[in-house]
Amino acid sequence: MRKKMIAGNWKMNMTPSKAKELVTLLEPSIDIPDVDVVLCVPAIDIMPVTDIVKGTNIKVGAENMYYEEKGAYTGELSAEMLTDAGVSYVILGHSERRQYFHEDDAIINKKIKKALEHNITPIACCGETLGQRECNVTLNVIRKQIQEMFEGIDAFDAADCIIAYEPIWAIGTGKVATAEQAQEVCHSIREVMKDLYDNITADKVRVLYGGSMNEGNALSLLTQPDIDGGLIGGASLKMEFAKIVGSAHTNVAV
Ligand code: PGA
Repeated sequence: MRKKMIAGNWKMNMTPSKAKELVTLLEPSIDIPDVDVVLCVPAIDIMPVTDIVKGTNIKVGAENMYYEEKGAYTGELSAEMLTDAGVSYVILGHSERRQYFHEDDAIINKKIKKALEHNITPIACCGETLGQRECNVTLNVIRKQIQEMFEGIDAFDAADCIIAYEPIWAIGTGKVATAEQAQEVCHSIREVMKDLYDNITADKVRVLYGGSMNEGNALSLLTQPDIDGGLIGGASLKMEFAKIVGSAHTNVAV
């Protein structure tokens, strides 16, 4: 049985003081042992948020990371810096990084490998554009992204990664994929993992859905057999996040 995960993706929001305020309010209701709750926050918020959640089940994630060990890469953050600051997850290959910062699957693959080397769990993102969905090539696009992101990664490491399916047309748009659409792609992600590795790896890897998930639609998405949780953008910046965590909890309890 795969444990449910609810991860927040704050993107470029929340100053350190606002971050402290929000996490202090959220903490009592999102510290639930049977759901993995992760707050992926801007680099400058990592240390204050880590301080607040110390001693709870809540984990802190980064939103990006560089693939080199260290050195002359002005403005970048290394895996070692993140682990030293208390980070245990990192979002890699988010569509906003692909679109605005020209990250491709080869770069994301290097970042995933570096994160794994440092025991940081990658949350590797994939997803199709509206045009690709309308041309009926969604599953091909996803297959190619997964194949390239996981190139050279063995089954043992792959099983520990988190894959987030985030249809680009649903991110920040309020247009959520239907539970059936999300389930279809999350299921096919597991099929790709079966082809690339084996049944055990495909069965173990956790697949999240992301894109306009909110307190109203969370439960219907989280009850799909291949959706193991959510990557939450806008709704992770408010108390609504606790309601989504609550839906994952209810789902476990049922
Ligand atoms: P959203 O973002 O929930 O605001 O659509 C999700 C994401 O980009 O991870």
